[in-house]
Amino acid sequence: MASEMLTKYKEITLLYDIVEKISSCLDTKEVARLVIEEARRVIKLSSVSVLLLNKETETLELIGEFGHDQEQPTVSWGVGIAGSVLSSGRAEIVNDVHSDPRFVEGVVTICSLMCAPLKAKDTVVGVIKLGSDQPVTYTAEDLKLFTTLASLAAVAIENAGLYEQLKEAFYTTVYTLAETIEKRDPYTGNHTKRVMEYSLAIGKNLGLSEQDMARLQLGAVLHDIGKIGVRDSVLLKESSLNDEEFEQIKKHAVYGEEIISRIASLQSAIPGVKHHHEKFNGRGYPDGLKGEEIDITARIIAVADSFDAMTTNRPYRQGLSLDEAFEELRKYSGSQFDPEIVDAFFAADVMEAFFAANSRQKIIL
Ligand SMILES: [Fe+2]
Repeated sequence: MASEMLTKYKEITLLYDIVEKISSCLDTKEVARLVIEEARRVIKLSSVSVLLLNKETETLELIGEFGHDQEQPTVSWGVGIAGSVLSSGRAEIVNDVHSDPRFVEGVVTICSLMCAPLKAKDTVVGVIKLGSDQPVTYTAEDLKLFTTLASLAAVAIENAGLYEQLKEAFYTTVYTLAETIEKRDPYTGNHTKRVMEYSLAIGKNLGLSEQDMARLQLGAVLHDIGKIGVRDSVLLKESSLNDEEFEQIKKHAVYGEEIISRIASLQSAIPGVKHHHEKFNGRGYPDGLKGEEIDITARIIAVADSFDAMTTNRPYRQGLSLDEAFEELRKYSGSQFDPEIVDAFFAADVMEAFFAANSRQKIIL
């Protein structure tokens, strides 16, 4: 009776802890890590693996593990005990693995194991397997606890997967929107992508937080979205602009802000969009902000955008060589550009970003 009570208590505290920890977790690997941590706390084991099914290759891919020094081989559908649990969808205890004909010797010593399916809405999306390097007798209670843990993990992993899909759909929509605008001016081809790659390389070098990196990415993709409000005769003009036309072009920064401020999920990109033409010395537009009054994302996009504009060919002028563009950035560091951002530009792997963004098109070096 006392041991039954203890098991129940363990089960309840496990449920409480795990639900609290993983329900807000939106990253599959982090879910796997938390589940492994909980399993280690309540079940006797020396190794655990969390494996997710790759539907295309029909193999199980490792997303988290404990107790394995070497890489584990991939598991195919129906092969081994994990593969068998994946096909049957039923959790199993195998207290003496060597007497089980399905057992495939792995990279760690295992005498006893438990394996449970990760089931989300009746679909098996993977398995979680734990083992002991000493012979132990796993009980039905152990299996129940383990299965409960696997069910919670499956729901959290599915949620994290859905969140990833949603995020991807969101970014795809934003890119498509930006590309649609870019298509109006065919000579800018891939400008958005390059500005994004340069900006992210600079942001990474500056050690920006994940949150700042996300708004930097959005701001870089959408920086010129306001050009949709500028007349073709001005936007596409091949000769130099008169004062009135230049005033028209300048409005794209505020138009951009107006467009994205109506979309809740794009709010964080506003500073980058509105202020990417501000200058460090306060002589830019639209607000004449200076120094750190200009949001960090806007200061980064300003460098990335200018570098790309300088190195891109236009119908009426040849782009600068890389060395000439580098020279221009150095020359205007401290006046037009934030010197710290220019330093980060040179320290960052901008060349890698340059080749990544230009890999599908002809470039001038
Ligand atoms: Fe712009």
